[in-house]
Amino acid sequence: MALPESFIQELKLRNDITDVASSYVNLKRRGRNMVGLCPFHGEKTPSFNIYTENGSFYCFGCGIGGDVITFIMKIENLDYIDAVKFLAQRAGMNMPENTYDDSMSALRNKIYEANRQAARYYFKMLHTAQGINAMNYLRGRALSEKTIRHFGLGFAPEQRNSLCNHLKSLGFKDSEIVAANLAFKSKNGYGIYDRFSNRVMFPIIDLRGNVIAFGGRIMTDEKPKYLNTSDTPVFKKSANLFSLNNAKNTGKRTLILCEGYMDVIAVNQAGFENAVATLGTALTNEQAMLMKRYADEVIICYDADEAGQKATQRAIQILRNAGLLIRVLIIPNGKDPDEFIRNKGKNGPVAFANILEQSGNDVEYRFAKLKTIYDLRTSEGKINFLTEAVKILSTLDNSIEQDVYVSKLSKEAEVSKEAVLTQLQRVNFKKNKENAKKEFRQLQTNLNGRDDKINNQHYQKPRSTAAEEALIAYLVNNPDKGEKISKKISSDNFQTDFNRKLYEYFQQRIKNSLDPMLNVSGDFSSEEASKIIQIISSYSKSVSTEQAMNEYINTINEESRKLSKNEIEQASETELLEYIKNLKDKHK
Ligand code: UTP
Ligand code: MN
Repeated sequence: MALPESFIQELKLRNDITDVASSYVNLKRRGRNMVGLCPFHGEKTPSFNIYTENGSFYCFGCGIGGDVITFIMKIENLDYIDAVKFLAQRAGMNMPENTYDDSMSALRNKIYEANRQAARYYFKMLHTAQGINAMNYLRGRALSEKTIRHFGLGFAPEQRNSLCNHLKSLGFKDSEIVAANLAFKSKNGYGIYDRFSNRVMFPIIDLRGNVIAFGGRIMTDEKPKYLNTSDTPVFKKSANLFSLNNAKNTGKRTLILCEGYMDVIAVNQAGFENAVATLGTALTNEQAMLMKRYADEVIICYDADEAGQKATQRAIQILRNAGLLIRVLIIPNGKDPDEFIRNKGKNGPVAFANILEQSGNDVEYRFAKLKTIYDLRTSEGKINFLTEAVKILSTLDNSIEQDVYVSKLSKEAEVSKEAVLTQLQRVNFKKNKENAKKEFRQLQTNLNGRDDKINNQHYQKPRSTAAEEALIAYLVNNPDKGEKISKKISSDNFQTDFNRKLYEYFQQRIKNSLDPMLNVSGDFSSEEASKIIQIISSYSKSVSTEQAMNEYINTINEESRKLSKNEIEQASETELLEYIKNLKDKHK
């Protein structure tokens, strides 16, 4: 079942891609196109393009592309149908009835609802006699009733059937409860049992206010300390952040990145609502890009222990790549933010506000770390310190920033500014050379198709692939030539299966008087759609004359006459002679 194309057409008409994308990306006009910093990967120079004439986008940096529906799928983490629904709602349109497969969408709605009911249930249980230990535990961790309510904290009872029974009484099916990862199937195959038992529960809420997952903390020293919902149809651990739903509303464009649930909550209770945390995994690029949508600056506020400091160094790289400004907060005495704030006698919220205020940027943080390793009083220490510090400077791409630190370093290590500068230039030179080499190698792999994940015959047939892609792009841009082309070439002559499929697809649509590109996001996977936009957008700029068209066709036809190595080995003598004669005739 597919959505009627007339509906897709209207949907796209009412959701102009530039309008839609501009609420996520800062766009500037460049010729007929719009460009901006890609929201799907970190970059400092724009390679995200919107082609206004055909309503598509493509990023030359990360290779993601598609139409407005693909854009919403990617940026809102939705599947095709839900992205269509999202856009329909945006434009005030009703979805056509009974024309599409809604089962996945229906399951997701069930999971959202089961999660919401589970959160209500856990919250209620926390406030019963059964939940008394959990309540005492939270009070022991200095959480107020207001905070508990604000975060919707709860308690999962010990009996492994309590939530399951409750949800079943509300009409949820076993399969739905299991799909939400709120329960497991029993080993013997009969019935299900609660995933979370005897734990304090932290609901994880997405930006639309849906409960998408839970974290559950044990109240003793047993392990594992925290259990988290595994990935489900509504939850991807690596693409969400705890409490971003709260943090995004502060209007501050600064986020405080903590390691754990309790840190976020303690920081929040201390008056900083812009705290977020990853969900039991290390920080991902996806999460950094998500933060970038709501913030310009991130204050890393990880534990002061060794693991926390390692994670800090790693997070600095990821956040820098996403184009975020960074500060690093160092908590004295090896504590985590929650312990620091809770230690009211000495620290507390005011002291936390102070260290937050004093937190330096990531470069200062990394220099400070170096200083703990090298002894600046010795010549050897100085040399090693400077060598490492200059390496850090070479990663900054702002020359003013570099200059400021060159001055600082030269003072600290008591060497001339020129000496530091010379060393920096040396490192930069070496790095640029390495980068140029890398870029060249990448270009080569792109050209010879070794990296082509969609058209896996690209590498074996580079010449055919290039001509096929060019012809497909020409066809899509000049649908009026469809018939003419079909008289000169048969799709059988396409040497790569993916391009043959594309060629036939577009020819079919043109024959039926359909807009060739209208339904690409519905008819192809999002990786395929990206590839298609790449093909169309990279060739539309090149020559688009009928003469070029003929050359593409000739190349494809010519390549199709060549025998593969396999075929040569298997051919009989007469066949080979015939083949050579044909080749000779052609060159006369
Ligand atoms: P920590 O071990 O630092 O715990 O884990 P914490 O945040 O200080 O927790 P409290 O204060 O003892 O309650 C940091 C984060 O790592 C994830 C959780 O998201 C936790 O908040 N984690 C930790 C797990 O997912 N599972 C675990 O078993 C432990
Ligand atoms: Mn802690």
